[in-house]
Amino acid sequence: MSKVTVVGSGFVGATVAQYLADNDVSDVCLIDVVEGMPQGKALDMMQAAPVHGHARKVVGTNDYADTKGSDIVVITAGIARKPGMSRDDLLKTNANIVQSVAKETIKHSPDAIFICVTNPLDVMTYLTWKTTKLPTSRVIGMAGVLDSARFQAFIAMETGYSVQDVRAMVLGGHGDLMVPVTRYATVNGVPIGNLMPETKINELVTRTQNGGAEIVSLLKTGSAYYGPGRSVAQMVESILRDQKRLLPCAVYADGDYGLKDVYIGLPAVLGRNGVEKIVDIKLLDDEKAALKKSADSIKENVDLMNKLLVAV
Ligand code: LAC
Repeated sequence: MSKVTVVGSGFVGATVAQYLADNDVSDVCLIDVVEGMPQGKALDMMQAAPVHGHARKVVGTNDYADTKGSDIVVITAGIARKPGMSRDDLLKTNANIVQSVAKETIKHSPDAIFICVTNPLDVMTYLTWKTTKLPTSRVIGMAGVLDSARFQAFIAMETGYSVQDVRAMVLGGHGDLMVPVTRYATVNGVPIGNLMPETKINELVTRTQNGGAEIVSLLKTGSAYYGPGRSVAQMVESILRDQKRLLPCAVYADGDYGLKDVYIGLPAVLGRNGVEKIVDIKLLDDEKAALKKSADSIKENVDLMNKLLVAV
């Protein structure tokens, strides 16, 4: 019986929990600092179980002791950027949250695989790795699945073809500098360049890069959660069911793609051991340069985070 702890029981955390229970992937422990909220959501999901017809256990708690023995820990805890808040403020606040969450959870689940979801994603994943001191194969960030899903959704909307036939991978950091590798985007194997003009592809790329912000501006309060939650669930499922899916994830580059000592979105194979392989796909020079630029920006933020954390 697998157990997944989801830290942070907001909309993303709850979406992950619901999918995992409904699809019989694992038991779930929802934990949050807010009292009553994880318990309430867990109880609600347990009451949905008889209707759905699964026998998975969902527990809500404020006590890290209840997370004991998790196979996977998903970190969604943190705040979203509020109006008037600088990126540094966000970085500092979430770095403190993620650091303390990682410290507490690793104590109770030393054998877990960690999936970080908190923003700024690539930087927080790096911090999770540093804090847990786990092998890099067991610390992963979720962003590439979501960014790719957004790109795929836009390709389907544009062409009118079934989203089930659309494949695409978005690499790089989770931010303005993400790298949608358009050459590899296809509708059932047909490169999208055969199906739409270059200008349209560029529009879809820009919309993908702003995918999160577009939703924030529509929702007014809060950010996306169906897409992010479902994306995390796919990674969890690939690991627990040892599916060996090839998914773009924030992984530790140690010379891969010419990048060193940085967590960034690259194509990775996820199985029961976590990141089982980083797959080296052939990139053109300008794609490599875009990836490098994205990595440089993540590294700058990691340096900044280290200064902010010391300053606390
Ligand atoms: C998004 C934010 C939450 O992309 O990272 O939706």
